[in-house]
Amino acid sequence: MDTLIDTTTSDRVARIVLNRPDKKNALTAQMYGDLARAIHDAEAHEQVRVILLHGQADCFSAGNDLKDFIANPPGGRDAPVFAFLSAIASARKPIVAAVGGAAVGIGTTMLLHCDLVYAAPDTRFQLPFTSLGLVPEAGSSLLLPQLAGYQRAAELLLLGRPFNIDKAVQAGIVTEVVAAAQLLAHAADIAAALAALPPASVQSTKRLMKQSGAVDVQKRIVEESELFRERLASPEAQEAFAAFMEKRKPDFSRF
Ligand code: COA
Repeated sequence: MDTLIDTTTSDRVARIVLNRPDKKNALTAQMYGDLARAIHDAEAHEQVRVILLHGQADCFSAGNDLKDFIANPPGGRDAPVFAFLSAIASARKPIVAAVGGAAVGIGTTMLLHCDLVYAAPDTRFQLPFTSLGLVPEAGSSLLLPQLAGYQRAAELLLLGRPFNIDKAVQAGIVTEVVAAAQLLAHAADIAAALAALPPASVQSTKRLMKQSGAVDVQKRIVEESELFRERLASPEAQEAFAAFMEKRKPDFSRF
């Protein structure tokens, strides 16, 4: 079976690559489990100082695989997606992300847990939770208003429309815009620079920046996930998912 999450470790950097480009790196339960394991392994590996996360320069992730949502809806708190969210939200080692092409749903919200985010100019972000009959996940209902301010977050989370790199920079989601041709090499250079710094100092600095909100973030991830599961079973979400499969516009007029 092809691996959809590739991991390699070299020069103190653990590289985690989303490798399902034919489906725009849409994430299945299996892939969340592999991502969670990859982060745990990087955290446990004594030689690893930095995690580098990316897809292809022209595709980060189209978010949750909508077919897999129906086939394998996230169950309780031990569901692979929550293992992934818990791992990325609590990582002690810094995470550098490189993003291009589509960054949809969790393809955007996971960036809120990364420390340095480099994105190509044509990246198309979207948080389409309301348009899918769902609610935000990954702690984004807490983190995005904190990061972007309420009004900017409300536009992105309530309307759910695609947004461009300028909006992502204004919202604070992206650290720096990098031309697509240089994106992966630039993120790797930054990861190498971080890996060359004293690791205890880097990890303590990350912990100091994150610790005051850490408990609230984990609590919010759980709250969101309970609502998310309810919403997944709702007629609104079923209409949205059926419309995606049938390649038509959803009709929410009867709700
Ligand atoms: N779940 C399942 N399959 C997905 C997917 C997803 N989230 N996103 C893309 N795919 C599949 C498409 O069905 C298509 O498969 P096919 O070739 O078998 O028909 C393939 O990936 C390529 O996608 P396509 O839509 O043709 O690419 P695009 O470049 O025109 O558009 C996106 C890319 C990301 C804008 C578009 O695919 C999209 O909107 N996807 C849904 C995103 C979404 O709602 N995610 C859930 C968030 S919670």
